[in-house]
Amino acid sequence: MVELGVNIDHVATLRQARRGTQPDPVAAAVLAELGGADSITIHLREDRRHIQDRDLRVLRQTVSSRLNLELACSKEVVDIAVDVKPDQATLVPERREEVTTEGGLDILSDTPRVADAVKRLQSHGIFVSLFLDPEEDQIRAAAALGVEAVELHTGQYALEQGVKRRQQLQRLQQAGALIRQLGLQLHAGHGLDYLNVQPIAAIAEMHELNIGHSIVSRSIMVGMREAVSEMKRLMVEALRPTR
Ligand code: PXP
Repeated sequence: MVELGVNIDHVATLRQARRGTQPDPVAAAVLAELGGADSITIHLREDRRHIQDRDLRVLRQTVSSRLNLELACSKEVVDIAVDVKPDQATLVPERREEVTTEGGLDILSDTPRVADAVKRLQSHGIFVSLFLDPEEDQIRAAAALGVEAVELHTGQYALEQGVKRRQQLQRLQQAGALIRQLGLQLHAGHGLDYLNVQPIAAIAEMHELNIGHSIVSRSIMVGMREAVSEMKRLMVEALRPTR
């Protein structure tokens, strides 16, 4: 069964538009769990554009599934992570000017910084995943660092159509096979929605998908609980053998 991590950052984005208290990501997390979320994912960005430190601390106490914290390899945020101890940490690249995470972590050009962040998180009992593009050398470098999981960046797959999308899917399938062969847990995410999720959920031995923008967008129309349960249903259906 593929697990669904619901990324609730954009509930906080809406709240920060008025710098008030509504909508509350903590309430959204409860409803996401009621809709079938297997984990709650949040990204504590260095610029704090959506999730705030207090959200992280309150969610640590209230999430009853698992809390997955996305973070950059920066000392300030890693310090917070080892203090709050989420169940899982996903290391991502971060640039201030980007609209969202654009591309995977480049371990090869920054090995000591990534290795240091991985070691610190793991020494506090936190399960570590690295967010990577589907590239063999990056995946092998991740395995060499001793991380528990790799999350494949599905952004390019989500942007393409037709033959180009099928090519991106093949890249993800091959990268997924390598990740499993190296003994790591396989995760994927970014840009996944109700129309493109099924081929990704069906990749062999996929363990977890992290999905945010499409679920939060749909939740405005149908409510968070229903938006999550619709996505979960599609993921389950993707695994059923076709007759
Ligand atoms: N996984 C990672 C590592 C991310 O950085 C993001 C975006 O915050 C997501 C998944 C979710 O992406 P989306 O909001 O496009 O579903």
